[in-house]
Amino acid sequence: MHKVLIDCDPGIDDALAITLAHGSPSLEIVGITTVGGNVDLHLTTANALALREFLDLGDVPITPGSAGALLRERIHAARVHGASGLADVILPEPVRTVADGHAADFIIDTLRAAPGEITLVAVGPLTNVALAVRREPRIVEWARSLVIMGGSYTRGNTTPAAEFNIHADPEAAAIVFGAGWQVTMVPLDVTLTALVTSEVLRRMENLGRLSDLVVPCCRYYGVVTAVGGPAIHDACAVAYVIDPSLMTVVPAVVEVETLGRHTAGMTVTDFNVGDRTPNALVATSIDVPRFWDLVVEAFGRVGERLG
Ligand code: RIB
Ligand code: CA
Repeated sequence: MHKVLIDCDPGIDDALAITLAHGSPSLEIVGITTVGGNVDLHLTTANALALREFLDLGDVPITPGSAGALLRERIHAARVHGASGLADVILPEPVRTVADGHAADFIIDTLRAAPGEITLVAVGPLTNVALAVRREPRIVEWARSLVIMGGSYTRGNTTPAAEFNIHADPEAAAIVFGAGWQVTMVPLDVTLTALVTSEVLRRMENLGRLSDLVVPCCRYYGVVTAVGGPAIHDACAVAYVIDPSLMTVVPAVVEVETLGRHTAGMTVTDFNVGDRTPNALVATSIDVPRFWDLVVEAFGRVGERLG
């Protein structure tokens, strides 16, 4: 069983990533931490709490973390994810609340207790992960691996140069990429090749109550057509953890731009590593049909459980 700790900012694709993880028999979600990003922290946390009960995640602890970036003004993506952060979906009000403490300490304590066993999957701004690394640098040894959805080695989606998760907190990302572990980076270059077309969406439509979440989420996230649609970015990072053979990954040296007036948050990716130690494994391609088979099968398992 592959244990995962998901740090996220739900967020439409974060919700789909959590659903994918929950529906995968090979993964065990040992914790969820939330960060401000797509929408404010109180909303990303409320969404995580609601998803825990709607998806029946059981006693997975949910611990909130940073409301915003280390140094910069907050940004958000409510125009993309909806004012609530979960499209126009209204989930039942959750009964249970968050765990005590801060996400960064939960990440440290959880990794310390199970060295080498847990993969940290970060699919929002990296503020919580950066704080954890600064507070306890040994988490880079304790984590089985760190897999992020973020960055791009070509173009951004929030600025021409930067992807949202990195642009939201470039200093945090620079800390994370400079911490001494090899970050597995699933960038826009890959996620934007796996789109929810009308055929993919049709495969999500008969999954019982789960379809009431995933279908409107996908429809809200982008225009679904026979040949195109939204990318469910964060689910790609979880899919890599489930089955790394889905993607080609290439060692690289990734530097995060923090000074550029127009390029802040750019993940400057050098595949010509030379005699340097690569600080990243960068995904460069994904097997799109197998990705969607994995997603639809996992959603189907969750749908069966929920009825
Ligand atoms: O750029 C895509 C990323 O930004 C995803 O994690 C999405 O949820 C947003 O946070
Ligand atoms: Ca996200």
